[in-house]
Amino acid sequence: MNMIDVITDKKLGKELTQEEIDLFVEAAAHGTAPDYQLAALLMAIRLNGMTARETTALTLAMQKSGDTVDLSGIPGIKVDKHSTGGVGDTTTLILAPLVAACGVPVSKMSGRGLGHTGGTLDKLESIPGMSVALSQDQFFEQVKRIGVAVIGQTGTLAPADKTLYALRDVTATVDSLPLIASSIMSKKLAAGSDAIVLDVKTGSGAIMHDLEGSIQLASAMVDIGTLAGKPVTAVVTGMEQPLGTHVGNALEVKDAIDVLAGRTKGDLLDVSLLLGAHMLVLGGVAADLKAAGKKLKQALESGAGLERFAEMIRAQGGDPRVTEDVSLLPQARVVRSVPVGQHGFVTRMDTTELGLAAQAMGAGRQRKEDSLDYSVGFVLPVRIGDEVFPEDRFFTLYARTEEEADRAEEAVRRAIVLGNEPVARPPLWYAQITKDGVVKPE
Ligand code: URA
Repeated sequence: MNMIDVITDKKLGKELTQEEIDLFVEAAAHGTAPDYQLAALLMAIRLNGMTARETTALTLAMQKSGDTVDLSGIPGIKVDKHSTGGVGDTTTLILAPLVAACGVPVSKMSGRGLGHTGGTLDKLESIPGMSVALSQDQFFEQVKRIGVAVIGQTGTLAPADKTLYALRDVTATVDSLPLIASSIMSKKLAAGSDAIVLDVKTGSGAIMHDLEGSIQLASAMVDIGTLAGKPVTAVVTGMEQPLGTHVGNALEVKDAIDVLAGRTKGDLLDVSLLLGAHMLVLGGVAADLKAAGKKLKQALESGAGLERFAEMIRAQGGDPRVTEDVSLLPQARVVRSVPVGQHGFVTRMDTTELGLAAQAMGAGRQRKEDSLDYSVGFVLPVRIGDEVFPEDRFFTLYARTEEEADRAEEAVRRAIVLGNEPVARPPLWYAQITKDGVVKPE
């Protein structure tokens, strides 16, 4: 058997055997097949799908393709959280310190921005001095001492995913349920936490735009975690519009600080509290979601969450004064406030286009080697369902140059549809999924 046989079988819609999946993963991890064969197989999987058995076998083979982190030396139930990616989605910066302040250790390995979506590591690096490259020992020591660390991946975690993800990004094969599920779950299982909370985004800014596909993806990942013996809860949340009002690295850090300081309410806070409540329940410090929500609110109102964020920043070499004075974060050269210019109702947003607008301003990478401008992005205070008037502030741009602000103004305006009729606000979440089944909002 060789790679051509594996590609042929998937092209014909057959179920791949364990041996075939192992050959594919071995080739991705160790370069024993050329990229064009891997890409052909990825497209065959994207078009013909995989059974639950194949998806689980692919996940476990990818997990075993590299190191597995052993977190057993850190006391307590370690709970990880992962989002499938969104725009203005800075829940990790809020949740990690807040959940730690409630007694659940958070040892989190995060990623960088990908395509139109932002990345936690890029946001953290916008804090002056902050390092996300700790050694394994420093990482463990920090989690034991202050209960929280957020860093880039240590060691070689799921190297097969690294190769396959880069290929998927450039071969239009990202939006495949088995490929997303195996990519995320192989890394989560290798990262060694005891339980996992997944935030599966749905809507115009998510990888999976349709709700049915998002629920199927969430269920597939819960099934894989359950088979691997880890409790997993997945929440399908809305990404029809940016989650917070701020998009861009330093701007999103500011948004997170404003939420932790109690100055900002809204969807970003509410989704953070929902995901955080699931983390506390899985972490064994709250009996149910109601009790967990109460604990999180106490940690928020007492300032314990913000204090823990400052401690984490200090421990990782950053300037903790940013939590009290957000003007210490990088500031953009050009700031432009844009009025709405007409009366109407915010009807729809193309959130992928909004993410791409921020990326083009310098908040994200167009090529792997691009460096970022942490100060740029935009603040968008309007939400779907709002009525707006000509003089209202529509959005504020933070740009490097007037020309980039011109281009961003056009792109952001184009991505937001104003209509003549009021529309309902989209729900915050659509489904909460565990091994026991699916719960939907009443
Ligand atoms: N995040 C990942 O890590 N992998 C995917 O395939 C999609 C989102």
